[in-house]
Amino acid sequence: MNPVYEKLMKCYESYKAKVDFAPKVALILGSGLGDYASDIRVECTLDYSEIEGFPVSTVPGHAGRFIFGYVGDVPVVCMQGRVHYYEGYEMADVVLPIRLMKLMGAEVLFLTNAAGGIQLGMHVGDFMLIKGQIACFVPSPLRGANIDELGVRFPDMSQIYDLHLQQTVKKAAVSLGIAIKEGTYLQLTGPQYETPQEIAMCRTLGADAVGMSTACEAVAARHMGMRVLGISCISNLACGISATPLSHQEVQETADRVAPYFKALVTEVIKNIV
Ligand code: HPA
Repeated sequence: MNPVYEKLMKCYESYKAKVDFAPKVALILGSGLGDYASDIRVECTLDYSEIEGFPVSTVPGHAGRFIFGYVGDVPVVCMQGRVHYYEGYEMADVVLPIRLMKLMGAEVLFLTNAAGGIQLGMHVGDFMLIKGQIACFVPSPLRGANIDELGVRFPDMSQIYDLHLQQTVKKAAVSLGIAIKEGTYLQLTGPQYETPQEIAMCRTLGADAVGMSTACEAVAARHMGMRVLGISCISNLACGISATPLSHQEVQETADRVAPYFKALVTEVIKNIV
């Protein structure tokens, strides 16, 4: 058996032995949304460390566990803490949780993240609906022997973010009176923040926001036929646009400040996913 698939199935067996829950939506909580769990009617949780072979995050502020429960009537599995490529994992490990959540039954992947704003007119604390993405210097999670059980060798990525779900996000934002921008998310590997020259490159490439996650997760999800949506919280203006040096603290503080709005938006979106 393909070793990547074998590891995935081991994790799945480990989950199956401990949890009896069928999620419809898989939600990944980016910086600042870590305590979103308080908005979920929690049925049970599963620490990543309890899953045999599961990659465990090393970033401060990224607790590592799955939360299973309901948002409204919608059964969700929520990742409190994601795995980043910059932590040193193979790309196959970075997307293992996405694949696992699909095996659990999730049809929709809802990605959230903190990102640096590049688009003109963007402000710290803005939200951005991700309409498209650029994986920049980030290896494909599909590299290597294709796992036919999950998807095809050459999957189409022309509409990676589901158009219908984008409408759901826009409607939810309007109903809550929350302004939301739209744009292209670009993933670099990090962990260093970009140089002003790299941000100039990102802008030339057509990026509106930049971060260190998400794009690879979206690719793995589309490979498996999941419907994907994503929202960025603009936690800072990207390097060279902002006059001040970047820090993880700024990212965290902004994300925390707007968290109540971000949470309300996430909840409204999930309740309206059909
Ligand atoms: N660059 C990359 N990743 C980020 C940023 C940024 O400015 N802000 C939050 N995540």
